[in-house]
Amino acid sequence: MTRILVTGGAGYIGATAVELLLAQGHQISVLDDCSTGHAESLPSSVSFVEGSLLDRSAISLALQGCSSVIHFAGKSLVGESVIKPELYWSVNLIGSRNLLDEMRKAGVAKLVFSSSAATYGEPESVPIPESAPTRPTNAYGATKLAIDAMITDESRAHGLSAASLRYFNVAGAVKSQRGWLAERHDPETHLIPNVLNSTPENPVNIFGVDWPTADGTCIRDYVHVVDLIDAHIAALAAIEDGRIKRGTHEIINVGSGDGYSVKEVLQAAGLALGRNIPHVNSPRRSGDPAILIADIAKAKSLLNWRPTRDINQMVLDAANAFLNLTLSQESNK
Ligand code: UFG
Repeated sequence: MTRILVTGGAGYIGATAVELLLAQGHQISVLDDCSTGHAESLPSSVSFVEGSLLDRSAISLALQGCSSVIHFAGKSLVGESVIKPELYWSVNLIGSRNLLDEMRKAGVAKLVFSSSAATYGEPESVPIPESAPTRPTNAYGATKLAIDAMITDESRAHGLSAASLRYFNVAGAVKSQRGWLAERHDPETHLIPNVLNSTPENPVNIFGVDWPTADGTCIRDYVHVVDLIDAHIAALAAIEDGRIKRGTHEIINVGSGDGYSVKEVLQAAGLALGRNIPHVNSPRRSGDPAILIADIAKAKSLLNWRPTRDINQMVLDAANAFLNLTLSQESNK
């Protein structure tokens, strides 16, 4: 049995990873500063260190007994990164630097990192392969790209085996024994939670209906959070069995390989909730590209991974989580 350190394990994606890894029989340690995560997401079997990546002693404590790391922790809101770039460069870059240093000291040489499609910026063409130019348009994407470069150098120089997974749009939810693990940001900027939250008084904005797409709204590649975590587990397996060799760092896109427009997401949500989604047409949001779709050939061939849940499943799971969370919040009033 192996012990894995999950940084950011109290967040939406990290907590889903903890849940699925425990179900596979792994032992789990979590390091999370709970700035956006929720400690109550974690089961009691997890060894939990509440602390920041900027605190090397917390990292060192959390690494005890671990043989590999899945690194989710970090700031992850594009808009916030434009307003507070210093926060992103500090937490994401310096935090990841500290993690690599502490891993080396502790002799932990296996790493899976949460990178992002934001590293590519505005694409020249879609689908986007890993070899596409990387020209991030915000500090969030720039920090993820810099961390990827840092991991490549660390692998070459110090024998780390690593994979960076470049996520496209993560969606969906999973039910754990402690309730639904779902996206809960405050403020929320992501499309699907905003769609589920929309009311006639507070309709969701459709940011642009004049894009060069079939229905005029932006197209994104949504991947279910459970499929995403399966890709991490597959990446760790590839590191363990030597498909990803010691001293190498593989960069791998994770999406569904399919695109859905904002209007198509609204339709799927309408079906899942059994009602129309109140919405208003709004101007384009600055920094949005028209279409982002992943080329996932590398994930398929190297990791032997395939996404298995479509947009309807993602929206249905997110809607179930939303309805249950709403009910439990109401009953707590
Ligand atoms: N959108 C709306 N209304 C909203 C929210 C979003 O119309 O209330 C639209 C956006 O304009 C975009 C699409 O829905 O066209 C998806 O937007 P999200 O904010 O949900 O996601 P993004 O595509 O902006 O961001 C995602 C990830 C980021 C990552 C980025 C680039 O969440 O972490 O893709 O790959 F950086």
